[in-house]
Amino acid sequence: MKFFVDTANLDQIKEAQALGILDGVTTNPSLMAMEGIIGEANIKEHYKAICELVDGDISAEVIATDYESMIEEGQELADLHENIVVKVPMTIDGIKAIRWFTDNGIKTNCTLVFSAGQAILAAKAGATYLSPFIGRVDDMNWDGIELIAQIADIYTIQGFSTQILAASIRNPLHIVRAAEAGADVCTCPLSSILGLAKHPLTDIGLAKFLADHKKANG
Ligand code: G3P
Repeated sequence: MKFFVDTANLDQIKEAQALGILDGVTTNPSLMAMEGIIGEANIKEHYKAICELVDGDISAEVIATDYESMIEEGQELADLHENIVVKVPMTIDGIKAIRWFTDNGIKTNCTLVFSAGQAILAAKAGATYLSPFIGRVDDMNWDGIELIAQIADIYTIQGFSTQILAASIRNPLHIVRAAEAGADVCTCPLSSILGLAKHPLTDIGLAKFLADHKKANG
């Protein structure tokens, strides 16, 4: 499973990169706004800065909602760097745009996915990645992991090559369960990635090893 970090914060991206396990970055308009990145020129510069930090797929989301404008904006984003993946919302215009990008050799990430039907449509359009938002599904008292498993089954049965990118990850257990359910990629807050390393028995065991070593060696 690939690991992406889900943030527009350059320090967090650098910290995730330093772990040596990072395969890419996803952002969205909310994450960009959270970092105070506003205005088209600044947003584009920020995407370029992320591409300089991480040699992997970097999702850049279109703001346009109609087909023609999505194509125009997506092409501009793709021209920023060879690693840019154009992130397109799951709408009818979005599906048409994904087909156009696919036919023109531009990678896509279909975002805001909440159902298996949407997953089938995006795969038929040739999306490179599909982003089911599992945390937001859980927020609705449904089961986000169950959705990942259902999509993974369908993609296997049908032979679709679209990669399932589990998004809206909220904690380390989401990552473990998404891996188990068949996600190809997890995009996570840095805190959830770091949380995977934590276990109280590791801390207790390490403290004992060091204490025993000190006792024996002075
Ligand atoms: O990857 C999508 C993510 O950024 C949304 O997360 O926590 O706002 O549902 P959240």
